[in-house]
Amino acid sequence: MTVDDDVVNPSPNRPFEDILRARISRRGAMAGGLAAATAGFIGTGGTAAAQGGGDGSQAATGGQLGTASAPRIDFTPVSKADAAGVDPVVSEDYDMQVLIPWGTPLKEGIPELAGHQTSAFNQRRQVGIGHDGMWFFADEGTNDKGVLCINHEFGFTGHVLGKSAPENLDDVRIMQAAHGVSCIVLEKVNGEWQVDLDDPRNRRIHVRTPVEFSGPVAGKKFLRPSRGQRARGTLNNCANGYTPWGTYLTCEENFNGYFGTEDETWEPSAAKDRYGVNANGFGYNWHLFDPRFDVAAPGHSRQVNRFGWIVEIDPQDPDAPPVKRTALGRFKHEGIALTVGKNGRVVGYMGDDQRFDYMYKFISADNWEDMVARGESPLDRGVLYVAKFNEDGTGEWLKLNMKVPALKAAFGTKARMLVNTRLAADIVGATPMDRPEWTTVHPDGEVYVTLTNNTRRTEPNAANPLVPNPNGHIIKIQDRNENIGKTFIWDFFVIADDRAGTPEAFGSPDGLWADSDGRIFIQTDGSQPEDMNDQMLVANPFGHMRRLFAGVPGCEVTGIAVTPDQRTMFINLQHPGNGDPERTNFPVPGAGGPEIPRDATIALSRKDGRKVGR
Ligand code: FEO
Ligand code: CA
Ligand code: CA
Repeated sequence: MTVDDDVVNPSPNRPFEDILRARISRRGAMAGGLAAATAGFIGTGGTAAAQGGGDGSQAATGGQLGTASAPRIDFTPVSKADAAGVDPVVSEDYDMQVLIPWGTPLKEGIPELAGHQTSAFNQRRQVGIGHDGMWFFADEGTNDKGVLCINHEFGFTGHVLGKSAPENLDDVRIMQAAHGVSCIVLEKVNGEWQVDLDDPRNRRIHVRTPVEFSGPVAGKKFLRPSRGQRARGTLNNCANGYTPWGTYLTCEENFNGYFGTEDETWEPSAAKDRYGVNANGFGYNWHLFDPRFDVAAPGHSRQVNRFGWIVEIDPQDPDAPPVKRTALGRFKHEGIALTVGKNGRVVGYMGDDQRFDYMYKFISADNWEDMVARGESPLDRGVLYVAKFNEDGTGEWLKLNMKVPALKAAFGTKARMLVNTRLAADIVGATPMDRPEWTTVHPDGEVYVTLTNNTRRTEPNAANPLVPNPNGHIIKIQDRNENIGKTFIWDFFVIADDRAGTPEAFGSPDGLWADSDGRIFIQTDGSQPEDMNDQMLVANPFGHMRRLFAGVPGCEVTGIAVTPDQRTMFINLQHPGNGDPERTNFPVPGAGGPEIPRDATIALSRKDGRKVGR
């Protein structure tokens, strides 16, 4: 959420919608319809047998790039009517437990939040608001205890403070403490998950936590306000990633919204403008009391460059500072899905969530284990690429480094280019997308990416469901050469509008994760068809899907973490009721009561003890 309403990509690169339109209309002419056009562009379409075992689910539209098999998905789905209620609902084959709502204490002696937040001191020791991406780092040999690292993307000022704007620095400090990340030690006791308050790994990271930079931009002037203040904080932590070496990655998305100024003579540079930095931000007004967020304050003009990165956190060491990995580029990072590619190189797929922005990939310079053994982070040295999608179902990964003459000429150094990653991607001709959100790497090797929606298409075209594209779609990519290739092939997985009126109708796909058996979990953030609340569906690679869960009015469903045995899945309800108790009192059942709704996590498990998603 916290969509940046601006379109800030002025580059003339051909919008992705044009390419889709060309492909769909060409194939429509050839094959006689959209369903045929979107089924199986490169390979053959999914067979009926692969679509879920002849259980009455409607035909798949997902194309087939690879040779995926269909994992079992046989739970009783949540009906569309049940998905439109006041309280959350899960399949009748499942149990759910609500845990760690905003304001849950993480240290002994700290109270549970009641009402709006009035104490920055407490908030720095309580679970934050805006639950989003997360991952569960199980203690060795168990499924019942571990560290849940969870992002706190944002909270509306009215929701957090109970007033429309901060009135003093104390109010700003409360807001800043409610953002960031929590590391929470969870333990399952008598079948219920609870916080282990005695464990020293419980930790809050927020907007004032000291952080470090690593990679090509570390120590460079672009990150250095003239007064030399040390770098602090992480902001608008959206989705996430997790590494083969056991660390958590938190991704900074709409950081621009927190900056502003009252200086009417101030104008954003072209570089700042490309990131949507302007005098008003999203109205948080932190800049009125904290000069760090005033883009015109002396000595602070480059503070904004300290945000828009992917940040690595060690869940096991509460004293280890978060590290911003600058080699991964600076943009509105939604999330990162890592896989181990050819020769043991680590490969990360990333979305930049803004209308007409891009999809990226990073490949480490060397085998990740060798790099770690040498004391080097695999995320500090490697090559960053941006995606160009071609009409014929092929694509190219365009290199972003100083070997590209146009980038060398424009930026001179890799550090300057990385701070301005979006501008670099404009120059090489990346394909502008419909808001790339989460990515996931399927066990069959294909990479899926959610394109959540793009309402700024003003050319209506009834023959093309994506112009405008208010409901989004999901693409899958088959990368060459075990994920380290320079080219790929791609196809649609699902176009949300194709599911309109079907039992699994949905819109605005956002959260996305493939389990080790090949099930694809799809979470939504946006208006849903037929008055449904935001939801989570489970799909197989052929496009068969079922609705597993639906949230409460005004929330989004986001974040996925599982225990190693996949018997528990954690998901989040973010901004329930958009903070309005008239819409929902979640986690308290019902609506219209006095309880302020609270972002919280929900643990899902199957009643028969099988894997979540079955
Ligand atoms: Fe924070 Fe693009 O979702
Ligand atoms: Ca979203
Ligand atoms: Ca999101």
